[in-house]
Amino acid sequence: MQYTLNPPLIETSLNADPLAQFDAWLGDARAAGMIEPTAFTLATVGADGRPSARVVLFKGFHDAGLTFYTCYEGRKGQELAVHPFAAATFWWDRLERQVRFEGSVEKVSRDLSRDYFESRPRGSQIGAATSLQSRVVATRDELDERLAANVQRLEGQPVPLPDNWGGYLIRPQSVEFWQGRRNRLHDRLRYRREGDGWTVERLEP
Ligand SMILES: Cc1cc2nc3c(=O)[nH]c(=O)nc-3n(C[C@H](O)[C@H](O)[C@H](O)COP(=O)(O)O)c2cc1C
Repeated sequence: MQYTLNPPLIETSLNADPLAQFDAWLGDARAAGMIEPTAFTLATVGADGRPSARVVLFKGFHDAGLTFYTCYEGRKGQELAVHPFAAATFWWDRLERQVRFEGSVEKVSRDLSRDYFESRPRGSQIGAATSLQSRVVATRDELDERLAANVQRLEGQPVPLPDNWGGYLIRPQSVEFWQGRRNRLHDRLRYRREGDGWTVERLEP
């Protein structure tokens, strides 16, 4: 397929701040009617040096980085505890655009995690408190029974933020914006952290 939807991506039209540039493209993706414009593929590295990747949702900017929320004891949490670095890739097919982040990862504060947790629907809160993410479970019934027990136990009370659940912050060290173009000669502009600022380079497609 030929990628022809958008005008060329040129150096002079980029925002000086890659997160502001990303925010503008995310706004375009929302306006384009994508079902999950905030979904991105998060790649981490295990203790054995092997990568693993899964889709999670971007939940906002914080302290010059990107946040997402998950179980700290699942596979990605264990991998990030050993190698606190990740790659995050967004693909917006309706715009023929990709954005790639690479950077260090740290946990956000408990207060920020609590604020986000409390903003979630009660069902999601109880689900997070019920799931031992990434572990093997013998049957679906076992999970449903644990959920039902938690619904009963927590009736009429707020659901406390689980100790093993919260947010991570990706602090980007590089951010690449990719715009599909004709004949596979796509535009790729990459911001690279240099001191307190950013250097922008064009990459061959
Ligand atoms: C569209 C979509 C959004 C998802 N969002 C999240 C999320 O925000 N947080 C999360 O922990 N898992 C999310 N998941 C589930 C993850 O892909 C994954 O199954 C889970 O986090 C366990 O990954 P792990 O075993 O590598 O830790 C999402 C899955 C999809 C398909």
